[in-house]
Amino acid sequence: MTKITIIGAGFVGATAAQRIAEEELGDLVIMDIIEGMPQGKALDLMESAPIMGYDANVLGTNNYEDIKDSDIVVITAGIARKPGMSREDLVKINSNIIADVCGNIKKYAPDSVVIIVTNPLDLMTYIAMKKTGFPPQRVFGMSGVLDCGRFAAFISMELNCSAKDVDAMVLGGHGDSMVPLTRFTTVSGIPITELIETKTIDRLVQRTINGGAEIVELLKTGSAFYAPSAAITNMVRSIVLDQNRILPACAFLTGQYGFDSIYLGVPVKLGRSGIEQIIELELTKTEQDALNRSAESVKQGILTLDI
Ligand code: NAI
Ligand code: 2OP
Repeated sequence: MTKITIIGAGFVGATAAQRIAEEELGDLVIMDIIEGMPQGKALDLMESAPIMGYDANVLGTNNYEDIKDSDIVVITAGIARKPGMSREDLVKINSNIIADVCGNIKKYAPDSVVIIVTNPLDLMTYIAMKKTGFPPQRVFGMSGVLDCGRFAAFISMELNCSAKDVDAMVLGGHGDSMVPLTRFTTVSGIPITELIETKTIDRLVQRTINGGAEIVELLKTGSAFYAPSAAITNMVRSIVLDQNRILPACAFLTGQYGFDSIYLGVPVKLGRSGIEQIIELELTKTEQDALNRSAESVKQGILTLDI
């Protein structure tokens, strides 16, 4: 049985645990620093199993020894963005949390595939790679699947068509400089430019870029967790079942798209070993310029890190 650990049993972590357990993708450990909370959520999930009809052991813990030999570790530990707070505001607090968490992953789960979720995502993923010392193939971030999900949702709402038929692509950092790519976004293979006028597409692109903040403004006390946990589950499923799905992920680039030694959202092939391949698309000048701006903002962020 695959052992999947989720570190940080808050809104995103606990909802991801629920989705992963319901799909029977593996046995779960949910870990948090708050005493009793992960244990309570784990027990609640165990008591849901006979009702929902799934078999998965879920252990809640405050003790890193329990993550021993995990195959996959998802990190959602950290502080969530509050209204008026940018992702970058989170950098200091969450860097220390990620450094601590990654030291323990290195010690107890040295062969795991690690998916970072904590914001600011591109920077936290970079820190995780440095602090675990794992090959970048096994350390990457979740953001693109979420951003694509949002773009696809807005397109399906606009067209009043099934969300199942929309395939969206978003590259770049998980921030205001993300790059939704209309040229690679289709509905049942039909480019959206054939279905939606340019002015409306521009509005949907802006809404996608602002997608995280839109939810924060509504919730007021936290950030999105249903779509983020769904995105985590998609990535975990592709790894556990060795599906080799091509999904966007925050991956370490070594020359691809003209960038070196930074993490940035690009399409990858995701299988049992983690990132099996980085897919390099031929971009137009406008698309490449937008990606350059996004990479530049990630690079500037890396320079501020104390590692
Ligand atoms: P939350 O506040 O509900 O949960 C965070 C949990 O982390 C808390 O239970 C807290 O006790 C725990 N934690 C803090 N320090 C810890 C440590 N050292 N070790 C273990 N656990 C620790 O927040 P939520 O909504 O679950 O979000 C979690 C993170 O994910 C935030 O940074 C948020 O910005 C980010 N996020 C990223 C997304 C993405 O697309 N990459 C999407 C949604 C959220
Ligand atoms: C989001 O995009 C907060 O990054 C998180 O919802």
